[in-house]
Amino acid sequence: MKSSRKGLEICCGITATFLIVVALVFTTLWFTTFKPKEPEITAYPVGLEDINVFSIFFVRNITLNMTITINNHRNVGSFEFKNATAYVNYRGGVVAEVPIGQNLVPARGKLNTTTSADLMVGKIITNPVFFDDVAAGSLNLTATAALHGKVRLFEFVKIRATALSTCDISFSIASRNVQSTCKSKIKL
Ligand SMILES: *[C@@H]1O[C@H](CO)[C@@H](O)[C@H](O)[C@H]1NC(C)=O
Ligand SMILES: *[C@@H]1O[C@H](CO)[C@@H](O)[C@H](O)[C@H]1NC(C)=O
Ligand SMILES: *[C@@H]1O[C@H](CO)[C@@H](O)[C@H](O)[C@H]1NC(C)=O
Ligand SMILES: *[C@@H]1O[C@H](CO)[C@@H](O)[C@H](O)[C@H]1NC(C)=O
Ligand SMILES: *[C@@H]1O[C@H](CO)[C@@H](O)[C@H](O)[C@H]1NC(C)=O
Repeated sequence: MKSSRKGLEICCGITATFLIVVALVFTTLWFTTFKPKEPEITAYPVGLEDINVFSIFFVRNITLNMTITINNHRNVGSFEFKNATAYVNYRGGVVAEVPIGQNLVPARGKLNTTTSADLMVGKIITNPVFFDDVAAGSLNLTATAALHGKVRLFEFVKIRATALSTCDISFSIASRNVQSTCKSKIKL
């Protein structure tokens, strides 16, 4: 009688220890390996180099092509997102709405996508600080996008996630050089 109770206690103890170890291993793996990490998103305007700053006084819209690269190399899961819109801001006003088509970023992979948008030149040049910026030699734009989608781990785990990205785009007038730096975050 006594020994069978002892046997039960040992058995329970071993089971509990085993479960704790399994939970620890899974928690560690989740935080180190499987938990979705923010993808690296870069948005780079193409052809801005060809725009003559003085010609923008004679056109109303400029078609701006953008290359968007989403690098998922840190993630074990793939990310599938729905149609989205990126907003390009200049000094607090939206000057372009950039469509981003639904797509799949493979696990540990990279996605390049190109898109184009009408840059509302009128809204840029009528901004009171436009001439100050031209005098200072650079136009700074900010692009923001929220990509809503799903992270898929091993075919069977699906987690809803949103990748938020903000890019600071700086266009230097004299050198026609475009610099873009982006920051992203992922919300589960
Ligand atoms: C933008 O892309 C379109 C089609 O992909 C192309 O015809 C156009 O020349 C490009 N414009 C610039 C400024 O690169
Ligand atoms: C310029 O772009 C705006 C917004 O996309 C659009 O409503 C307008 O018709 C465009 N104008 C021209 C001349 O293309
Ligand atoms: C996403 O955009 C594409 C191209 O504009 C369109 O054909 C498709 O129907 C859209 N998908 C959804 C789910 O809205
Ligand atoms: C994506 O674009 C970058 C920069 O334009 C290029 O270096 C890279 O090779 C492209 N990758 C793919 C898979 O097309
Ligand atoms: C635009 O951004 C660049 C780099 O962040 C900065 O050096 C420059 O002063 C900014 N220009 C204006 C007009 O704010």
